[in-house]
Amino acid sequence: MLIRKCRKEDLEEIYRIERMSFKYPYPTFVFHEYLDKLFFVIEENRKIIGYVIADEERNLIVSIAIHPDYRRKGYGKMLMKHVLRFMKGEVVLQVRKSNEIAINFYKKLGFEEKTELRRYYIDGEDAILMAKKID
Ligand SMILES: CC(C)(COP(=O)(O)OP(=O)(O)OC[C@H]1O[C@@H](n2cnc3c(N)ncnc32)[C@H](O)[C@@H]1OP(=O)(O)O)[C@@H](O)C(=O)NCCC(=O)NCCS
Repeated sequence: MLIRKCRKEDLEEIYRIERMSFKYPYPTFVFHEYLDKLFFVIEENRKIIGYVIADEERNLIVSIAIHPDYRRKGYGKMLMKHVLRFMKGEVVLQVRKSNEIAINFYKKLGFEEKTELRRYYIDGEDAILMAKKID
């Protein structure tokens, strides 16, 4: 297992994982824009199996996804712990209210549900704003 910075040549594989993970994937340009930010991939046997993106300036976890075949094996947790080492203060994120798996996942990492953001997503679904204080 290896966690390393994302490179431009990784984006095609990351986008494959993105499409398998979300009904409304981020458009590809978003991934390009975050290349200089806290953008990490996790590899197993030299294959990319997940990614995390965070924005240090906004103290925000932008996105995380693990390839469906590799879920529930601790990789997501490892990626989050890695990226959180580069962040300080109150780290926030938004998650779809229906995404119980992700809400559970973030709770396990110490995030708490703070507020609901009504009709936050393009399809009208509400978001839950979650936060965790980092010393
Ligand atoms: C959310 C996601 C990144 C979790 O990654 P993962 O590698 O499967 O998670 P981990 O194996 O590190 O799990 C850590 C903890 O999260 C919780 N969790 C993870 N998957 C879960 C599931 N299917 N059901 C319930 N709890 C779950 C558990 O508490 C787990 O700890 P445990 O295995 O000791 O019980 C992954 O499910 C994913 O890519 N989902 C699709 C994309 C997505 O929704 N991203 C978040 C958008 S806001």
